[in-house]
Amino acid sequence: MLVTRELSKEYRSGENRLAVLRDVSFSIPQGAFVAIVGPSGSGKTTLLGLMAGLDTPSHGQVLLDNADLTAMDEDQRAKLRGQKVGFVFQSFQLISTLTAIENVQVPLELRGESGAADRARELLGRVGLADRLDHFPTQLSGGEQQRVAIARAFANAPRILFADEPTGNLDSETGARIVQLLEELNRESKTTIILVTHDHTLASRAQRIIRLSDGRVVSDTETERAA
Ligand SMILES: Nc1ncnc2c1ncn2[C@@H]1O[C@H](COP(=O)(O)OP(=O)(O)OP(=O)(O)O)[C@@H](O)[C@H]1O
Ligand SMILES: [Mg+2]
Repeated sequence: MLVTRELSKEYRSGENRLAVLRDVSFSIPQGAFVAIVGPSGSGKTTLLGLMAGLDTPSHGQVLLDNADLTAMDEDQRAKLRGQKVGFVFQSFQLISTLTAIENVQVPLELRGESGAADRARELLGRVGLADRLDHFPTQLSGGEQQRVAIARAFANAPRILFADEPTGNLDSETGARIVQLLEELNRESKTTIILVTHDHTLASRAQRIIRLSDGRVVSDTETERAA
C-alpha cells in the first residue's frame, strides 16, 4: 500500500515561491495499476519522485507499506528503494559502464539467482533488443535505453514500479509491447504500477486514473478495467 497525505512541494527562487504540488492525498493498494495524467507542468514527475522517495516534500507524508519515507534520511530511503522500488525514468536509469545485458543481469546476480545471463537475454528479447545486448547505454537510442530499463525492472520484480512516460519515446508498435510487459508484471508479480503518461490509450489500460492540474488532484476515477 502506498499512501500520500497532504503532500506539498514548493520551490523557492529568490523571493518567489512556486507551489508545484498542493495537498495531494490518496492511497494505492498493493497490485494496483494507476495512471497519473495532466497537463505539462502540472506536477506529475514531481509527484512520482516524491512517491518513489527520490525527493522530499515541503509538507506531508509518503507511506510505503507503512514505512514513512518522509521520516527517513537519504541512506534509509535508498535502502528501501533497493528493496522495493523499480523505476523507468527518462533520466536516472542505466549504469553507464555496463552493457545492456549487464544492466539487466547484475541485479539478478546480486540477488544470488542462478541463470541470470539467460534470464537477462530472454527479457531483452521480449523488449525487442536481442541484437543490442552488448551495447553500452550511450550506444543506444533513448527508446532503447527505456526498454533496457523496463527489462531490468521486470528482472527485479519490484513491489512497486514507477514509470514516467514509459512509451513516450517509442513508436506505437514498441509502445504496445511495453504496455503488454507492464501488464504482465502487474499480473504475474502483483507489482503495483504507477505511471505518468500523456498517452490516452496507455492511460485507459490502467484501473485508475488520477488527474493533476496545477499541482492538485482534480479527479481520481476507476476505469472499467478496475477489478
Ligand atoms: N527543481 C525545480 N526548481 C524549480 N521548479 C521546478 C523544479 N522542478 C520542477 N519545477 C517546476 O514544477 C512544475 C511541475 O514540474 P513537473 O516536472 O512535475 O511537471 P510534469 O507534470 O511532469 O510536466 P511534463 O508533462 O511536462 O513532464 C513545473 O512548472 C516546473 O517548472
Ligand atoms: Mg514530467
